Amino acid sequence: MPSVFIKTYGCQMNERDSEAVAAQFVARGYSLAASEATADVVLLNTCSVRDFAEQKALGKMANIAAAMRRTRPGAVLGFLGCMAQSRGEELLGKGVRLVLGTQKFHRAAEYADALLQGRQSAVCDTGAEAGSEAQIRDHVLGTDGTAPAVTAYVSIMQGCNQHCTFCIVPQTRGEERSRAIEDIVAEVRDLVAKGVREVTLLGQIVTSYGRRMIPTRDGKSPFVQLLEAVHEVEGLQRIRFTAPHPKGYGDDLVDAYGRLTKLCPHAHLPVQSGSNRVLKLMHRGYTRERYLEIVGKLRAARPGIGIGTDIIAGFPGESEEDFQQTLALVREADFDHAFAFKYSPRRNTPAAVMAEQLPQEVIEERHARLLALVNERSAAKFRALVGRLEEVLVEGPSRKNPARLEGRTGCNKIVVFEGSPRHIGQLLRLRIVRASAVTLYGDPAIVNLD
Ligand code: 5AD
Repeated sequence: MPSVFIKTYGCQMNERDSEAVAAQFVARGYSLAASEATADVVLLNTCSVRDFAEQKALGKMANIAAAMRRTRPGAVLGFLGCMAQSRGEELLGKGVRLVLGTQKFHRAAEYADALLQGRQSAVCDTGAEAGSEAQIRDHVLGTDGTAPAVTAYVSIMQGCNQHCTFCIVPQTRGEERSRAIEDIVAEVRDLVAKGVREVTLLGQIVTSYGRRMIPTRDGKSPFVQLLEAVHEVEGLQRIRFTAPHPKGYGDDLVDAYGRLTKLCPHAHLPVQSGSNRVLKLMHRGYTRERYLEIVGKLRAARPGIGIGTDIIAGFPGESEEDFQQTLALVREADFDHAFAFKYSPRRNTPAAVMAEQLPQEVIEERHARLLALVNERSAAKFRALVGRLEEVLVEGPSRKNPARLEGRTGCNKIVVFEGSPRHIGQLLRLRIVRASAVTLYGDPAIVNLD
């Protein structure tokens, strides 16, 4: 039986795409290899959002190709996903025989078979394919046919029409294309029947879900209609989604946080900058005032909601004063957690050719200051939970110490505690007794909410 190993770079959408690819290989009789060393097919599912992510995947592939030349010369090595889409044929060669773009994930197993069996010598397929958004739907199941995890990702759409000036994603993922509500609900229902208790709905811009496909009904956007439909699925306990755009936070979505009890009290709301001048240059479509207004409304609709964000330091033309406004916004918005990124120029994006590119030292220095602030703030948020009762969905053994269990709070914070395997999949109320910078520790005196 041939085997496949898939390594994923980048976002949750990429992780989900990799799972769907793995499921196809399993359906064709492949086993999933534990590492690249023993695999017949090795695929790197890539990210292009920052240059660093591309360099990591290129470096990894060079190492794999060098090792495989000696040990497994017949193996098929391939790049999938965003970097494959944007670099295309230039990635073929040096041991790489498969390059598949973001609308071709569902063909990975078929092409790999053809390459392994010598029916083709190399494949590069990065074309557009109508309906490909509906193909990210299969999940790898455990050997007993149940879901291997308590939580699952569900892809609801592909592509992005926002065209933020720094971002390569519209080029790599193409135009927005959404799946039908019935198909998504059927997938969620099936996952729940197999033991899943929490789903995260995924897309590049989930708040744009169904635009131009599903009409607004009773003032509710298609995305809110989808949330309502998923909320109806019996046995499902929690709903999350990522990534939304602040522009998509109309009152209908804010209101959904107040109404839909399964919707987790958490929102990842990428702000990118706290300066209106920079937000305009980025083509974000909101001001810092509007952003803070949304945050305020969410906190009013769901007290205790956790708010996360993404921020870019060193966008072209960002002055020290602009950057100070970003730091001020971080304090004002009181984020639970924030990813801080160094601006990375991406090919064929408007920002990459803006006149005022900042020196790398300035980008690094601002990023370090931003990181120090967000880390300090998020540690304070963790500490503030000590002594509180938190609702935790138990996901499985702790990754750091498998003798303990771990789960997440509604606000998406990891809680580690001493429990028993029967707690896996249950929603428990745990007393938080200790916090590190990134983990909460729960009291073993457990109250079951199921
Ligand atoms: N440079 C740095 N960070 C970027 N992001 C997107 N494009 C770039 C870029 N060119 C960040 C944004 C986005 C997150 C997924 O990656 O903050 O929200």
